[in-house]
Amino acid sequence: MKDVQRIAIVDPSDTSREPLRNMLLGVESVWLEAECSRYEFFLDVVQQSKPDLVVIALDADHGKALQLISHLTAELPSLPILAVSAQGDGQSILQALRSGAKEFLTQPVVLEELLVALERLRQNRALSNGHTRNGVAKVDSLAIAVLGSRGGVGCTSLAINIGCTLAQDKSHNVALVDLDLALGDADVALDLMPDYTLADVALNIDRLDMTFLRRSLCKHACGLSLLPHPVQLEDVGLIHEDHLQRVIGLLRASYTQLIFDLSKRFTPTDLAAMRMADVILLVAQLELTSLRNVVRMMHSLNGEEGIGDKVRVVLNRVGAAETEISLKKAEETIGQPVFWQVPNDTRGMLGSRNAGVPLLEFAPKSKVNQSIVELAQALTGKHGQAAPKKERRGFFSFK
Ligand SMILES: Nc1ncnc2c1ncn2[C@@H]1O[C@H](COP(=O)(O)OP(=O)(O)OP(=O)(O)O)[C@@H](O)[C@H]1O
Ligand SMILES: [Mg+2]
Repeated sequence: MKDVQRIAIVDPSDTSREPLRNMLLGVESVWLEAECSRYEFFLDVVQQSKPDLVVIALDADHGKALQLISHLTAELPSLPILAVSAQGDGQSILQALRSGAKEFLTQPVVLEELLVALERLRQNRALSNGHTRNGVAKVDSLAIAVLGSRGGVGCTSLAINIGCTLAQDKSHNVALVDLDLALGDADVALDLMPDYTLADVALNIDRLDMTFLRRSLCKHACGLSLLPHPVQLEDVGLIHEDHLQRVIGLLRASYTQLIFDLSKRFTPTDLAAMRMADVILLVAQLELTSLRNVVRMMHSLNGEEGIGDKVRVVLNRVGAAETEISLKKAEETIGQPVFWQVPNDTRGMLGSRNAGVPLLEFAPKSKVNQSIVELAQALTGKHGQAAPKKERRGFFSFK
């Protein structure tokens, strides 16, 4: 999927704004960032919402609209402006372009023409603007999927604690999507009572916009946002692969890191999330069932184009039992190096889970928290290396 274009629109007339808004919402690669019915307020709206481009309808008041275009062009010269008007004569087009609009469409807008204009604006912006958006760094998102090699291996614990750690950085905007649709418990682990879930998002997928999507996420005090699994088990079937593709595409436009806590059932939604992820943490423990499943899963994931290469094996609860399989034997068995090792700490981890608070609050100095902090840094390339490399060794490494 293409990068999402975040759009803000201004049109004082409901009659023309509604159809244009609905058309934009129907374009998969568009996120309607803001909607405004007053020319006077639009500059503020744009400065706050920082869209990739703006659509300005001229017909409610040509004078004010053209003034707004000039003003926006002066304040935000790199912001592409698409003007729309029912007056498609040469004079009107020229006035809009001279004021600073980059594209002009005649109303009623035709979908094909809109798509062509959006693509042209996207390309121009990419050429002229590299990676900045209105002078603000473009959100460059990293999507991390957490997959387990059997039940209870520690996926949710790792997902929420990586998420909370990443959310500590003020420049980050982090969201966790609970894709263990039937039995997920990220909300419980974070002691959150969500108002909305993925089921609400799926039911409203056709009118999904920025406001709706943001409202569906609930925020933990540490800064991590959560998009929870459905409350009712019957609602799990409402969430389809294509819904997830759209939701993840939109989330990527607004969040710097996304974390997917996957189910252990290899469902189509799990696979869709893995396809869209940049890195897949395959969580295992040093025991036979888990390691054997890693081998089976890698066999299957290597058969999916573009997925196998993204997998990094993370050993959890290392040191839990004297009888556990050695790291060397484990690496021989799975046929690839272990990316990270998280130590066992029953008191810290179980205590934090039962208290419904992340490790950074419950046991910030514990070795298990330190290991997860360093894992999060390694994933974001802040651990003295660029993002995920296979040969990375974690805390507790034996080699
Ligand atoms: N590093 C660790 N040290 C000690 N206990 C741990 C560690 N990681 C996880 N646990 C414990 O293991 C149990 C299962 O963890 P968690 O719920 O995160 O696993 P999961 O893979 O998400 O399970 P599920 O299959 O139910 O989704 C929890 O009680 C948790 O406290
Ligand atoms: Mg879990």
